[in-house]
Amino acid sequence: GGLVWRGCSAGFDTEDGTAGPLAEGNANPGDKLEGSDAAPDDPVHLKRRVGLFSGVALIVGTMIGSGIFVSPSGLLERTGSVGISFIIWMACGLLSLLGALAYAELGTMNTSSGAEYAYFMDAFGGPPAFLFSWVSTLVLKPSQMAIICLSFAKYAVEPFVSECEPPDSLVKLVAVISIVMILAVNCYSVNLATNVQNIFTAAKLVAIAIIVCGGAYKLILGNTRHLQEPNFASSTATLGNIATAFYTGLWAYDGWNNLNYVTEEIKNPSKNLPLSIIIGIPLVTLCYALVNVSYLAVMSVSEMADSEAVAVTFGNRLLGPLAWLMPLAVTISTFGSANGTLFVAGRLCFAASREGHLLDILSYVHVRRFTPAPGLIFHSLIAVAMVLYGTIDSLIDFFSFTAWIFYGGAMLALIVMRYTKPHAPRPYKVPIVIPYVVLLVSAYLVVAPIVDKPQWEYLYAAAFILAGLVVYVPFVKWGYSLPFMDKITVFLQMVLEVVPTSTTFE
Ligand code: ARG
Repeated sequence: GGLVWRGCSAGFDTEDGTAGPLAEGNANPGDKLEGSDAAPDDPVHLKRRVGLFSGVALIVGTMIGSGIFVSPSGLLERTGSVGISFIIWMACGLLSLLGALAYAELGTMNTSSGAEYAYFMDAFGGPPAFLFSWVSTLVLKPSQMAIICLSFAKYAVEPFVSECEPPDSLVKLVAVISIVMILAVNCYSVNLATNVQNIFTAAKLVAIAIIVCGGAYKLILGNTRHLQEPNFASSTATLGNIATAFYTGLWAYDGWNNLNYVTEEIKNPSKNLPLSIIIGIPLVTLCYALVNVSYLAVMSVSEMADSEAVAVTFGNRLLGPLAWLMPLAVTISTFGSANGTLFVAGRLCFAASREGHLLDILSYVHVRRFTPAPGLIFHSLIAVAMVLYGTIDSLIDFFSFTAWIFYGGAMLALIVMRYTKPHAPRPYKVPIVIPYVVLLVSAYLVVAPIVDKPQWEYLYAAAFILAGLVVYVPFVKWGYSLPFMDKITVFLQMVLEVVPTSTTFE
């Protein structure tokens, strides 16, 4: 196949007119979409089901995940001051909002699903779009998965080691187990995966509500001294440190562009896409501000910076006999996020490989379950490797560095298209300074940490992106395939019981 894929919803209207494997449960993380129940050989057209409410729910549900339960300590540690870290929390919210507003223009102008992929295709053509799908399959999605599962593991083991540092190997082991469990859920059935998603989204909102109410209670009792605590003796805020502090904060906000992956499913997108963004992102920003204040209502700055799992420390201080609620809610929340992330990753991988962007085998689905098992297994394997060799902080740096190259790229795409397609209809037009500002900030975010403190992770990430070009030319552009690939494909097909999606089922 050539470069005809127009989005990660390709599962719905496949080239031969049959429904793709993912058509039976098309929910995305955090939303309440009901899948289409069409039989696998009915032609299925995307239905516009996402209204304003589910649009906001999708944004809020994907953004709130592990970050607010792990990042506050890291951010304090990196900036060394309450004031600066609070400013960074708010700035991250603002940056996400500005980025998302630019995406609102892109998404209402090009209404096909798939976000960056679709916009790069429009503005720059095939190779950059290929690079995006390559990097998201090999790096972005697996690293999201690894970070969320490591956070899950931290909270899952914390109650058993009581406020001292849990052994690293135990955390990694639990993280790997959680990846395997999520993989099993997603391979078992699409509907199970979407149900897990919806139920677990509620849990994270409960966790946030408990923290905010608890904090408010403490503040009403007059417990405001930690909020007024002077800064650490040595503020560690160098330019590079601030950039990596932003990485930590921005991780908690990642997912602000998720509605753009499903534009084709939004009702009246030119109105509801911008509106969901304008409501959803400030809502998350507000939650995060309140949670940060609540943490400091209960613990001191240094306790917070040292805490391995702030929400557990919070629960232990405040909830007494109900302290176990906190780690439970956070593990459920993170499990749900990881589940949603793998769900989307499976779709992305499926769609990219269908169009000849990745190995064929990755686009095959299980004969009876219609789940894209090979793609899911592939992602999980990479995620396991990342869990074993990385730490939450190094993976967040690695992820954010790579992600912001592409977010910046999308800003560039917007600016370029203002010149190359001046007359294209733009139902929502963002003030042009916004993409310029976000582009500048993303350039800073990508360059500053390298200049300040070069790390291998950045080199790996850059190498991955470039390796994509080396793969693109022979295997996509010229259409070569390796001679032994057929044998491997057939072998894997038999072991995994998977078939290409064009096969008609009974
Ligand atoms: N912001 C989320 C968190 O704090 C991570 C979201 C991962 N990104 C995504 N597109 N699923 O855990």
